[in-house]
Amino acid sequence: MKILYAASEALPYAASGGLADVAGSLPAALAKAGHDARVVLPLYKNVKPELRSGLEFITNFTVDVSWRKQYCGVFKGVVNGVTYYLLDNEYYFGRDGLYGFYDDCERFVFLSRAIMEMLKYIGWKPDVINCNDWQTALVPVYYNVFYKYQYGFDNIKTVFTIHNIQYQGKYGMEVLNEVLGIPMYHTKLLEYDGCVNLMKAAFETADKITTVSPSYAWEILDPWYSHGLDRALANKQYKLCGFLNGIDTALYNPETDPLIPKNFTVKNTKGKEECKKALLSELNLQDGDEPVIGIVTRFVSHKGIDLIKYVFEDMINLGYKFAIVGSGEKIYEDFFKEMAWRHPDKVSATIGFVPSLARRIYAGADMFLMPSQSEPCGLAQMISLRYGTIPIVRETGGLRDSIKDAGNDDGNGFTFKTYNAHDMLDATRRAREAYNDKKRWKYIMHTAMTTDCSWDTSAELYLGLYRELVGE
Ligand code: GLC
Repeated sequence: MKILYAASEALPYAASGGLADVAGSLPAALAKAGHDARVVLPLYKNVKPELRSGLEFITNFTVDVSWRKQYCGVFKGVVNGVTYYLLDNEYYFGRDGLYGFYDDCERFVFLSRAIMEMLKYIGWKPDVINCNDWQTALVPVYYNVFYKYQYGFDNIKTVFTIHNIQYQGKYGMEVLNEVLGIPMYHTKLLEYDGCVNLMKAAFETADKITTVSPSYAWEILDPWYSHGLDRALANKQYKLCGFLNGIDTALYNPETDPLIPKNFTVKNTKGKEECKKALLSELNLQDGDEPVIGIVTRFVSHKGIDLIKYVFEDMINLGYKFAIVGSGEKIYEDFFKEMAWRHPDKVSATIGFVPSLARRIYAGADMFLMPSQSEPCGLAQMISLRYGTIPIVRETGGLRDSIKDAGNDDGNGFTFKTYNAHDMLDATRRAREAYNDKKRWKYIMHTAMTTDCSWDTSAELYLGLYRELVGE
């Protein structure tokens, strides 16, 4: 089967969040299963020179962005057997950073339209286009409105994947014709609550809607999680399902990872102790056996930072040390800085996005705390599992689907249900007790490290869905 995976970011070329990990690893898993999976994304200015120099120029053409005519170049790269198409337009993508510009709507209108237009020029026709989040949400819309009956475009199926329902691509109604170039008689497809809503338009037009965990697929039908879109989704529930993401298990492998001080395996975890020692000394934390909790996250409220704030001192009193890295809202950055200042030998807070330090925390910490208010899938808990760092999570979305409480025999972490700081504290208390029982802790680590986080199962689920659409 031929699958085009359309995303606004994909590893190794461009990354700002979990979408890039998925777009960089799911297509490779589909290719491994014998399919022709290709990826398309923008050619951002920030693509590293060594990757940029490996790209080959294929063609160029003009894209209609409403009444404007814009240049689009197509470059091709091959990584791990997967072909990537990078779409070039310096006006839209020759900027520092991926998102957050005043004309983001127009930039991603261009991307979605260019993806469709590209198919006329590359001599390859996909059976399925899987697009992702609001930035490529217009692909199924354009397909249905403009392309479906054009020569060479018949019978392409579209899948829309929600990685986070919070970011919907919401704009004033005036963009409909002026930027999207969509005739007014299609208003119904795009209008929601008085705005143009790109995500809702994808719900209307895509053949299937998927999301990144089974639990999130039903959570988003509830107003507490849906950021207003539950009504739009309830109508389309018949085409909605959730598949748990995998991670790139070759990249995140403690046995071979060159970014950690000492490699280790599930059979011999001695190296992990050295990773912990090295982490403590790197961060100037007190040496000693007390457990270290790792926190690697964006500092925003839906990651549950308020719960951490509320009982932070109580967790210190349980005898924990903390290795924290992340950035985000100032109020949280200040909080963690203050805690590090108050407990210099127990708390380290690095403000920023530092992937290499994050990796050393995944490897060197004993537990990983992720009390998210909502979490579509979450990748950090799975990376932690691989490195034998026991996740402490709230039972929501993908956290609920990947982590089982160690109160059960097959538990690989510690979980709590309610969005409540003392419930989280209780989970950290139980984890602390388990940590003191060395035999039990070893067993939990073993369960964690042998949990299957690969794409094997989920790639099959995606393929099943694609086959159903294509009628194979
Ligand atoms: C988004 C979600 C995260 C998910 C990732 C990849 O970043 O917030 O939970 O793991 O997408 O699907």
